[in-house]
Amino acid sequence: MPAKFSTLHEIVKQAQANLTREHWDYLVGGSDTEASVRRNRHGLDSWVFRPRILNDVSQMEVSASLLGTPLAIPVVLPPIGSVQVFNAAGAQAVAQAAREFGVLQILSSVCTPDFEEVAAAVPGPRIYQLYLMGDQTWMDDRIQRAMDAGYTGFCLTADTQNYSRRERDILKGFVPPSGSQASSPAFNYQTTMSWDTVAHIKQRFDIPLVIKGVNVAEDAVRCVEAGVDVVYVSNHGGRQLDHTRACIDALPEVAAAVDGRVPVVVDGGFMRGADVVKGLCLGADVVAMGRLHALALAAGGSEAVVRALELVEREIRLTMALMGMSRVSDLHPGLLERSEPTAPSHVLSAFPFLDQGY
Ligand SMILES: Cc1cc2nc3c(=O)[nH]c(=O)nc-3n(C[C@H](O)[C@H](O)[C@H](O)COP(=O)(O)O)c2cc1C
Repeated sequence: MPAKFSTLHEIVKQAQANLTREHWDYLVGGSDTEASVRRNRHGLDSWVFRPRILNDVSQMEVSASLLGTPLAIPVVLPPIGSVQVFNAAGAQAVAQAAREFGVLQILSSVCTPDFEEVAAAVPGPRIYQLYLMGDQTWMDDRIQRAMDAGYTGFCLTADTQNYSRRERDILKGFVPPSGSQASSPAFNYQTTMSWDTVAHIKQRFDIPLVIKGVNVAEDAVRCVEAGVDVVYVSNHGGRQLDHTRACIDALPEVAAAVDGRVPVVVDGGFMRGADVVKGLCLGADVVAMGRLHALALAAGGSEAVVRALELVEREIRLTMALMGMSRVSDLHPGLLERSEPTAPSHVLSAFPFLDQGY
């Protein structure tokens, strides 16, 4: 890895140089027409700041917490299946970076090393995200094992009852390791997931439950009523249902429905510190950055993930200071308004210099 990346641009560029076409497309791509992928960015690019002036910003406070775990910045690293194809150290490298920098990792059940190996190698708070590949007894066993291994939260991804059609992968005949698991008959258990599954987990296990994939107020309310501990707004980075709203546009109604009763996490297209600030303004407690941290992993392993987080922190601090806001708790929707994006939005539109020879 270059001595020190000084911008997120360089990290993305290095990732592209390091990855094969198959792995690059698996990482940046989405489902069907990739409209959901583009909309995530279009939504973020459509909010502009209404900064305030003449506030003392000499003392900045950008830390946060989720489920009792302190976070250096209001960011978590969401589950990335097959993360080992981006860097052989896979989920363990992400775990190391999360611990070193001070954010929380949500570890996918379809990556290597697996949840128990990662917990043994890198102890610390962590959330385990599970795809159901067995019956209730199988699921209960997984949750218990995750608790025994020290996981501090359990995440069900509710937007993947079927695995989508990722046409970039299909066209090349590329099947990521997690994709081959998804095409096994065991993955059909995902289709059986329901609110009864949520009720069962809440009744049986004393571990905070995250529901990932919430898009509308009705489901957010239902989560809170069911005792869910974190409502996570996501369209899976545009990799599952195509033609959804941008997650940043689904966020305000979900945050209003949750009304502060439990934390709200959002992801989908968040690539820069300014994007994180927009999510916080619109009601998220924490923002998850998926592709960004996987790109950093591809660019330079654990070290580059830490560097990416340092750069995101720098951008968050600078954005907030220039908005006249010194604390995360100062952020509110009145600091944003809608405006037409200045350029076409796409998965990497947060990095406009990529093709300009830098
Ligand atoms: C390569 C890749 C693999 C993913 N694997 C999983 C997974 O195993 N489980 C899951 O819940 N979400 C998975 N996701 C979705 C992410 O957790 C997250 O919702 C998404 O990446 C957020 O959008 P962003 O990449 O634009 O930040 C994956 C995303 C990517 C890019």
